Amino acid sequence: MRFLAHRGANRLALENTLAAFEFAVQTVHDGVELDVQLSLDGIPVVFHDDNLERLYGIGARVQEMKAEDLARIVPINPERFDADPERMGVPTLREVLELLPGDDFLINVEIKAPKIARDTPTAATAQVLAEVPRNYIVSSFNPVELARFSRIKPGIPLGFLFAPEGPLALHTGWPAPALKLAGIKAIHPHWSLISPDMIERAHARGWSVNTWTLNDLDRAHWLAKDGLDAIITDDHTLMAEFRRTDA
Ligand code: G3P
Ligand code: MG
Repeated sequence: MRFLAHRGANRLALENTLAAFEFAVQTVHDGVELDVQLSLDGIPVVFHDDNLERLYGIGARVQEMKAEDLARIVPINPERFDADPERMGVPTLREVLELLPGDDFLINVEIKAPKIARDTPTAATAQVLAEVPRNYIVSSFNPVELARFSRIKPGIPLGFLFAPEGPLALHTGWPAPALKLAGIKAIHPHWSLISPDMIERAHARGWSVNTWTLNDLDRAHWLAKDGLDAIITDDHTLMAEFRRTDA
């Protein structure tokens, strides 16, 4: 089973920053998950929230600032991390990918596109991924964007994300919309939605099951026995603990 660092090693450095991804590599994760949005000048940048308030104390959205300015902002209370504040601005997708290894290291690029819209990050993201070859899986809660991605850049595996709540919540325990999408190679359910039956049905279709955001060692062991393929975690110690306690 693989362990991916959620937004990088987000307890060692601010989430989704160069420092967090450097720590994810140093803590020997099997891969990382990251979130992509577009800056004002149309450059894919790595950032999760709707606006910069929680992490940077700035009342603006990333879509309202240029990538070069986003790179220079400093987190609220950077001293809580043992990391260079200059490595904790909002990075471009390209910068992050270039510091991550190739080969088996799995990079889960999550396209943030909460609404049906034209100016989503999908096309620009596909272009960057084509230019920086790595081992990718592209995921989104938005099936329209997954379909768009597969038309622009077929061949990169896609993961269908789903959650028990939120605007694109799925309550059936089985992601029927994924069946209609080309290029789906995995489902990415919230951990609370997983059942052994779901894993079996996914595997029967040739799909992996990668869950988020799981920080609990016992649950990791149970799900591993059910055949889970990957865990996206906030806890950079979970993988080592899991392997140490694996019977
Ligand atoms: O991709 C897994 C997970 O990151 C999805 O939720 O809100 O943390 O991006 P969120
Ligand atoms: Mg995410």
